[in-house]
Amino acid sequence: HRRPRALSGIQPTAGSFHLGNYLGAVRQYVALQETHDAFYMVVDLHAITVPQEPAALRANTRLAVAQLLAAGLDPERCTLFVQSHVPEHAQLGWVMNCLTGFGEASRMTQFKDKAAKQGADRATVGLFTYPILQVADILLYQADAVPVGEDQRQHIELTRDLADRFNTRFGDTFTVPAPHIVKEVAKIYDLQDPAIKMSKSASTPKGLINLLDEPKATAKKVKSAVTDTDTVIRFDPAEKPGVSNLLTIYSTLTGRTIAELEKEYEGRMYGALKTDLAEVMVEFVTPFRARTQEYLDDPDTLDVILARGAEKARAVAAGTLAAAYDRIGL
Ligand code: ADP
Ligand code: NA
Repeated sequence: HRRPRALSGIQPTAGSFHLGNYLGAVRQYVALQETHDAFYMVVDLHAITVPQEPAALRANTRLAVAQLLAAGLDPERCTLFVQSHVPEHAQLGWVMNCLTGFGEASRMTQFKDKAAKQGADRATVGLFTYPILQVADILLYQADAVPVGEDQRQHIELTRDLADRFNTRFGDTFTVPAPHIVKEVAKIYDLQDPAIKMSKSASTPKGLINLLDEPKATAKKVKSAVTDTDTVIRFDPAEKPGVSNLLTIYSTLTGRTIAELEKEYEGRMYGALKTDLAEVMVEFVTPFRARTQEYLDDPDTLDVILARGAEKARAVAAGTLAAAYDRIGL
């Protein structure tokens, strides 16, 4: 019996992954390599739903791959590729477009948020249908599990609906996937405004931890994180969202439980927690930056990894697309 399949994708954003991407998604990618037949891709077709400068997009795609490798993805144990290298994504994406209701697509909150940021006249039809391309991304690999942060839950629901719809209408073709969301880290909050999630687009620079920033700058951001006017270090997301966010980050990066940390910081000040977490963060990002740079400095190796990844991905994707086309009468 084959292992269960996992599939996920991450955008080639400018500069660097942020801490929310890493804790909410990429760490789970690394863990699932051990238990799943795992497929991970850099979703450059999704990136062009908003304006991109060609040279920057190309560089950011490679930077994203380098970061995934630096984070611990091993091309011997997973399939790592770039979305546009596998043309079946766009092809099955079209099929899924034709299966989705206009109203159904209009209800996607990520689209609404992103379109609002672009302005009504500038938002593209590609941005409108990107959740449907994501459906195709997942179904092509017959994925059982999709490691993502909380913000992607609605898209996985859409994926399940469309897989069911296709299977009912045309015969059993697609695996109906489930989201793999690790509750504790599904939503990492902005360091300056713990009411919003940490994100490239909504966070201010001080609230956003970019993994590739200067470690000193990162330490400074942690030390100036917003907490509250109380002094007790206790995990209580409703009453103490800032402190709780710091405890979540601390616990995940060190493998120590929240209860252990609460005990260690009993009777101590917020400053002590922040200083120690700043150090933990520096210890994490320093080697991460160095490893990322090593991959960037070796473009030939990166090319080989991506060529092999695309070949392995296509072998699966082409089979699924052929089956789907056949069912539909194409
Ligand atoms: P972004 O959400 O910043 O635009 P992506 O869409 O490429 O970035 O997201 C990559 C992954 O990171 C997704 O699985 C998403 O759910 C996850 N993610 C993004 N922000 C956070 C966050 N603040 N906390 C937890 N996970 C997050
Ligand atoms: Na997202």
